[in-house]
Amino acid sequence: MTINVYTIGGGQMSEAILRAALKRKIVSSQSVTITDVSEKRVTYLKKEYGFNAVQAFDENAATQADIVLVGVRPQDDWKEVLRRIGELQTKAQIISIIAGVTLKQLEAALNSQRAQVTRIIPNTLTDTGFGYSGVCLGEYAAKEIVTPFIESFGKVDFIPEAQIDAYTGYAVCGPNYVYNFYLALTNAGVLAGLSRQQANKIALENIKGAAAFLEDTKKHPYELLDTNNSAGGCGITLQHEIDASTFAAGLQNAVLAAVDKATELGGE
Ligand SMILES: NC(=O)c1ccc[n+]([C@@H]2O[C@H](COP(=O)([O-])OP(=O)(O)OC[C@H]3O[C@@H](n4cnc5c(N)ncnc54)[C@H](OP(=O)(O)O)[C@@H]3O)[C@@H](O)[C@H]2O)c1
Repeated sequence: MTINVYTIGGGQMSEAILRAALKRKIVSSQSVTITDVSEKRVTYLKKEYGFNAVQAFDENAATQADIVLVGVRPQDDWKEVLRRIGELQTKAQIISIIAGVTLKQLEAALNSQRAQVTRIIPNTLTDTGFGYSGVCLGEYAAKEIVTPFIESFGKVDFIPEAQIDAYTGYAVCGPNYVYNFYLALTNAGVLAGLSRQQANKIALENIKGAAAFLEDTKKHPYELLDTNNSAGGCGITLQHEIDASTFAAGLQNAVLAAVDKATELGGE
């Protein structure tokens, strides 16, 4: 059974979410209506996915929907968008992906009693089935309705709202750290004399294999390193260089900076 979703703001993130939901058959082309102020986006979303995309606010779609997904940006007039939804007294679950806008602010803008609101920081690896979305349920949100939808674009972590900035900087920005690690590693392979093609394929395989090994064995990385690092060998030699470098601190500082930035943007 597919669910009816009405989306306001059909930008990059909404598109990625709906593409994954479509792929996993949680929604169908016919069960999705999107309002976007941009004519270009409306034309594209219709042509690419067959969604019912329109430029004007669609009261009927908002009233009939199981889920209303609010995908506009913090600098857009999200208060007006929510005011219009609130006016309709819709029974739909309202899911907001607007960065930095709190449940309290969303509920105030909706101005309707017992509004069923969920705030999420969405996973950005939507097409892969990997990655976590951080989900903060409002007081009246129906977990059983929102969960299957959010799970269609990755895994779900229910978190207290106080954790959302840490979640943004660490989990949702997470792929960026991995892309940087991959890039640094592949450059090292080329530096050591392997071709770019070899370096890329080996790094990707090792990242996937090491992740699978950590997951399957549930062993601590120190234990796996101990097995790999024989006395006086290559493993312990590279370990010494890593320990003497700013590798760990650099990564940790990058995460803390991203978390701080999420807090700063949320406060604006
Ligand atoms: N992209 C990500 O990786 C990511 C990750 C986590 C969270 N988010 C959050 O997701 C939200 C959307 O981000 P995005 O990257 O998808 O932005 P985006 O691509 O710029 O999409 C926003 C869309 O909403 C449209 N819009 C603005 N006001 C509207 C209104 N009143 N009614 C209907 N449509 C309206 C915009 O049209 P115009 O451009 O013509 O104004 C634009 O097409 C943001 O709040 C962001 O913080 C994004």
